[in-house]
Amino acid sequence: MSQHSPTDLLEAAGEVRKQAHSKYSGFSVGSALLSEDGEVFLGCNVENASYGLTLCAERVALTSAITAGHRTFRAIAIAADKLAAPCGACRQVLTEFCGEDFPVYIASADDLASFETHLLGKLLPERFEL
Ligand code: THU
Repeated sequence: MSQHSPTDLLEAAGEVRKQAHSKYSGFSVGSALLSEDGEVFLGCNVENASYGLTLCAERVALTSAITAGHRTFRAIAIAADKLAAPCGACRQVLTEFCGEDFPVYIASADDLASFETHLLGKLLPERFEL
């Protein structure tokens, strides 16, 4: 995945973060999801006056990829106003398509180089399954 290194994905996430609609929280998030065949899908958080309708950046990227026909993924990068791990809902949604060893790169947008790598299985050890 040389052309889609963690740094490449984090840069893409940092760039799309600028599109966030985050006027209520003031917290902007961007994410870049790498599909198995090397395509990158982007997402930013989209807030709403009815706060609970807010869409997280990770789920926007994932639903975009699913809509385009992708079902298997290699990694996701998340860049936010500060270094922050994905919320519990996004962890659960990612586990629908991504395994325990799936890498989650997180970084503060102003310091992408100091990113952290987390494995989805560690972030959500007991996912809900039907
Ligand atoms: N947010 C995300 O986009 N991803 C997460 O994993 C956590 C939170 C967004 C939702 C909301 O727009 C803002 O960050 C503050 O919670």
